[in-house]
Amino acid sequence: MRLRPLFTKPLASYHAGVFILVAVTGIVISQLTEEHIILGSILIVEYLLLLVLMLHVYEKYMRPIKKASKSVDELVKGNYRTRIHHTSGGSIGELSSKLNMLARNLSEFQMQEQMQEEQLSTVIDNTQSGLVLIDEKGYIHLVNRKFLSMFGGTPKDYRSFLYYDVMENETIHETVQQTFLYEQNIKHSFTQTIDLDKKYIEIIGAPIFNERNMLKGAVLLLYDITHLKKLELMRKDFVANVSHELKTPITSITGFAETLLNGALNDKETLHRFLTIIYDESYRLQGLIEDLLTLSKLEKDDFRLTRTTVHMDQLTGEILPVLHQRAGQKGISLSTDVKEDIALQADGERIKQVIINLLTNAISYTPENGEVKLSVTDEEDHVHITVSDNGIGIHPEYVPRIFERFYRVDKARSRNTGGTGLGLAIVKHIVEVHNGNISVESEPGKGSVFHVLLPKHDETSL
Ligand SMILES: Nc1ncnc2c1ncn2[C@@H]1O[C@H](COP(=O)(O)OP(=O)(O)O)[C@@H](O)[C@H]1O
Ligand SMILES: [Mg+2]
Repeated sequence: MRLRPLFTKPLASYHAGVFILVAVTGIVISQLTEEHIILGSILIVEYLLLLVLMLHVYEKYMRPIKKASKSVDELVKGNYRTRIHHTSGGSIGELSSKLNMLARNLSEFQMQEQMQEEQLSTVIDNTQSGLVLIDEKGYIHLVNRKFLSMFGGTPKDYRSFLYYDVMENETIHETVQQTFLYEQNIKHSFTQTIDLDKKYIEIIGAPIFNERNMLKGAVLLLYDITHLKKLELMRKDFVANVSHELKTPITSITGFAETLLNGALNDKETLHRFLTIIYDESYRLQGLIEDLLTLSKLEKDDFRLTRTTVHMDQLTGEILPVLHQRAGQKGISLSTDVKEDIALQADGERIKQVIINLLTNAISYTPENGEVKLSVTDEEDHVHITVSDNGIGIHPEYVPRIFERFYRVDKARSRNTGGTGLGLAIVKHIVEVHNGNISVESEPGKGSVFHVLLPKHDETSL
């Protein structure tokens, strides 16, 4: 511990001066009379009394005030952790405790401000859209993590630079310029290659105003809208495909009906042939519309399965006669192996559709006199449906695509067999809404095996 000096320097020299003066005066006085000595002693005693008084005043008032002033200096410098340790009471004590309270409040404010700042930067950094803050002169003040993941670089590469010096994208420049010019939200979109992927980015520029309504800068928000674009593209593709699929049979129906009306009606043989075509085409149209309706029902947000206890042997018994007939027409042997007492909680009508679609395909894509098999087995908490054929098979390259809507390996072949290109898309949907799984093993020229696994109980409702 450092010892406190009794006096500060100027005070000490002042006292020393006074002391010498008094001492000299004392010597002078000693040469004088007794009365003078008494007078001198009184003077010394008075001086000492004065000294004690001054010391008291210094300790009680001067020191605490100096401490307080030092603390205020610290507060001004921003050190809010400073405190005054003083035990004196009275107004000086009050001043000290109030200063301490002020320091405590300021440090609390500082902590809150720090917390808010941290929260804000966490939010900004973790938001799923890119964010850039630009001042009215065009200098970048902030870029968040998402922005860096889109355009690369580190915050240092952007902060305090002019936006057009560090951002190359023309659409970004345009957005900033228009936001400043029109002082309103501006929206644009562009494509950007990120990690070798082409991404669609939407950019929104929003002006920032101060309390006097003067433009202070702009915020740029960048969203990755690739998935939306893809959905839009898929929708467009779907509409184009549907129109095309509808157009073919309708053109055919109109054409043959027109020919008949123009006179072919009188030739009985032609009449029969054309009417058969018209019938087949209308049948195809009907099938297509039914499949489209099924798909759109399955895709509705509020779609609900009507689950009941489905007995697999009973269910297959209901659909097999028609399929046996179809197989019989091509001389295909359709064998079934459905174990008894296999039951599951499912939507019976939909499961029927899965089996019909898979068996129809197996019959369609298997040459005459081929073999098609249906087996249903029990696998603990799953039911395993297998449809196999020794038909044309599917090249591995096409296997991942066959569940897409309207995808066919061989368009003409599918059409000739009355296919709509939607059968497997429907199957996949139904299996998925049952929380099941579908897989394919296939070899061109040898045949295909479709496996469907369906859970016996609806786990989601447990
Ligand atoms: N068992 C199978 N054997 C060979 N190819 C098949 C089989 N099942 C489906 N495919 C192929 O998958 C495509 C899509 O099937 P699907 O969605 O049922 O439409 P499609 O109406 O053409 O039958 C078919 O066009 C066909 O190329
Ligand atoms: Mg089909």
